[in-house]
Amino acid sequence: MNAPPTRAPQDPRARAAMEQVPLDMVPPKPVITLENIFDPETDYEKWMMRLIWTDRERGQKVREEWIAGLPYFDGPADNSDILPPGAPPPNVPLHWLRVPIHFTPLPDPRYTRSVYIAKNYFTFTRIEPAQELFARIYGGSRPRRILDFGTGLGTSAMALARLFPQAEVIGIDLAPHFVRFARKWAERERIPNVTFYLQHAGETVFADDSFDIVNESYVLHEMPQPEAAKIVHEMRRVLRPGGRASWVDVIYDDTEEERQARVQRARGPEPFLGEYMKLNVEQTVRASGFINVSKLRDPNWDCMVITAVKL
Ligand SMILES: C[S@@+](CC[C@H](N)C(=O)[O-])C[C@H]1O[C@@H](n2cnc3c(N)ncnc32)[C@H](O)[C@@H]1O
Repeated sequence: MNAPPTRAPQDPRARAAMEQVPLDMVPPKPVITLENIFDPETDYEKWMMRLIWTDRERGQKVREEWIAGLPYFDGPADNSDILPPGAPPPNVPLHWLRVPIHFTPLPDPRYTRSVYIAKNYFTFTRIEPAQELFARIYGGSRPRRILDFGTGLGTSAMALARLFPQAEVIGIDLAPHFVRFARKWAERERIPNVTFYLQHAGETVFADDSFDIVNESYVLHEMPQPEAAKIVHEMRRVLRPGGRASWVDVIYDDTEEERQARVQRARGPEPFLGEYMKLNVEQTVRASGFINVSKLRDPNWDCMVITAVKL
């Protein structure tokens, strides 16, 4: 029997577009190159996504065959093109190397296109809605430096850079292929005030008290609890006194029963969600010494937002 899909795509428009592609007629398979890698999702990819939601096992098989032929932005083996000036290569935690997230082995660069088109299905992975959320959190601020932890393809960093065109925004990630993709994407979007670097979010090379805003979006639920706590502490270290921080991440439900139900629903694509529920971001943020900690649930999508200030 097929495993039932654990979640439905969040965005109703993307779901409707995907459902226009019939499951029983396979659209022509596109050739994805570095020239068209930023193109909108093709019918073949919509069909494949629909298959994944309805018959995960078969869908994953089709996806793996498709991914085998995908291109990615490459660079020198020592990643010297994407390190902050003078910085050594980051340590890479074993869980990041070995545990596939969303069925995606993070060290495999060919998955970048697949992460890019997934932005259609998960609201926060698009620049515009992320920008709206940040405007609500940070509207009226005049930050000069902003750091986005675990930036992935760079969506939240680009949203922050658009919102604060006067600021220097830096996005960091452990995946060299995401960092290189984010750089190209920002270039295409003509966002000049954002830079991306290869860094371990729990051990960055940035100076103490050197940013006005720090953010993480959907990063802490992807790792063992001590690694996530390390990132919260690092966010505090690099933030200046009076600076503001935000965490946009999976909802921490009110009861243990609800939390465990969420962990069960996401079994497979979210291997560390049980660890995340033990973490309790809000409590970790308070314990880390942040003040004015508050939590809101955004009505537009499935996430929780915690904001705080460094004393
Ligand atoms: C689910 S993605 C979220 C990406 C992005 N923030 C977004 O909202 O679209 C999680 C990202 O965190 C990155 N990541 C996980 N652990 C990290 C670490 N210790 N240091 C830097 N990046 C990390 C992963 O490589 C991945 O790109």
